[in-house]
Amino acid sequence: MDNPFRYGSVVSGDHFTGREKELATLEMEMRSGQNVVIISPRRHGKTSLVFRAIDRLRRQGMLVAYFDMMAAPTKELLADGLADALYSGLGGVKDRALNRVREFFGRVSISPTVTLNPDGSQTFGVASSARDRETDAILKRLFELPEQVARDGRKVAVVLDEFQEAPALDPHLPALVRSVWQMQQNVSHVFLGSKRHMMTRLFTETNEPMFRMALPLVLGPISASNFANYIRERFVSTGIAIEDDAVKLILEITACHPGDTQELAHFTWALAATEKIPATRELVGRALVQVIQAEDSRYTILWDRLSPHQRLMLTALLGSGGASSIYSEAYRRRYRLGAPSSVNRSLTALMNSDLVEESPPGQYRIPDPFFRDWLSRLTKVGAGSVPPSIM
Ligand SMILES: Nc1ncnc2c1ncn2[C@@H]1O[C@H](COP(=O)(O)OP(=O)(O)O)[C@@H](O)[C@H]1O
Ligand SMILES: [Mg+2]
Repeated sequence: MDNPFRYGSVVSGDHFTGREKELATLEMEMRSGQNVVIISPRRHGKTSLVFRAIDRLRRQGMLVAYFDMMAAPTKELLADGLADALYSGLGGVKDRALNRVREFFGRVSISPTVTLNPDGSQTFGVASSARDRETDAILKRLFELPEQVARDGRKVAVVLDEFQEAPALDPHLPALVRSVWQMQQNVSHVFLGSKRHMMTRLFTETNEPMFRMALPLVLGPISASNFANYIRERFVSTGIAIEDDAVKLILEITACHPGDTQELAHFTWALAATEKIPATRELVGRALVQVIQAEDSRYTILWDRLSPHQRLMLTALLGSGGASSIYSEAYRRRYRLGAPSSVNRSLTALMNSDLVEESPPGQYRIPDPFFRDWLSRLTKVGAGSVPPSIM
């Protein structure tokens, strides 16, 4: 039988739960041409939420283009990929006959080449041979396209996922996006971003180009009651029992983080199914060990890349269970953190990579429960005690 819990990529249908309020808000804002920015750590369900909204809006006749900036390693590929996304989402037809494609991009004086790939799909080329300045001009015209389409009387939205990648492609890209899109009154622009620190800066700091450009939509965890029902229902529907205490423990460990919850539930279900026993708290504990083992290589790579002082900071945060007085002399002395400037430098780097989160303001914590667990095992082993998994 298939494992009823999915983690790692976008979820839909039976694997999607909750988010009714966020979905209603997002849909309403997109329909009314409002710009929205959704910021949350990775695997919180941004893409899943926006896919669901797009699906519903398309059924209502709205034209929506979606592009994942992570898929564009260079500005030229961004232009090509964006052209493709705009045609698929806003072209209104599946047909990629060259005359239709030319007509669509002709509105902004772009004439793309269309290449047929061996797998039958087609790729647009708009900037592959262009020089840097030309690429900017082409991108600008592509950004102008949604408003042109909206002028035909259609409701239009464009979604850019993983928008925190934009400054890395070109530091001027956010300013270019803003300069064109702030003029578009009839189009909803939606920005999703997962490096929370960087996204927050881009959209909330007065000297950043995206400042006040979009309405922020906060995507928190999924409510505990919702997730509890979902987990129970998924177990029941596959004929495997789960005790209420076990459901509670899963949600306690993951603090209802969507991706983490599905991952821990996935391993718990798999153990219960292979051992043909009901899921208990004890089983959740064993599933957690398996999750940590599965994530071990990823965490090891992360850890290897950190400076000694950043590691020290993480150990301090783990030891103190998060901290609000991190700059105080007592805290710095207790964990041998040195000068406030060193603390500041390491903290900034750790927050930029989302290993540490500041929430509420002034309070710092390690948000990933599996990483916390991995780290505490590591520090215990480092301190010479027996690793918990073999006790
Ligand atoms: N509404 C939801 N219901 C249940 N699980 C979800 C939901 N949204 C996200 N998840 C879980 O989180 C994982 C990551 O979701 P995704 O949409 O890719 O997040 P993000 O785009 O924020 O990185 C999914 O694979 C799934 O396990
Ligand atoms: Mg995503």
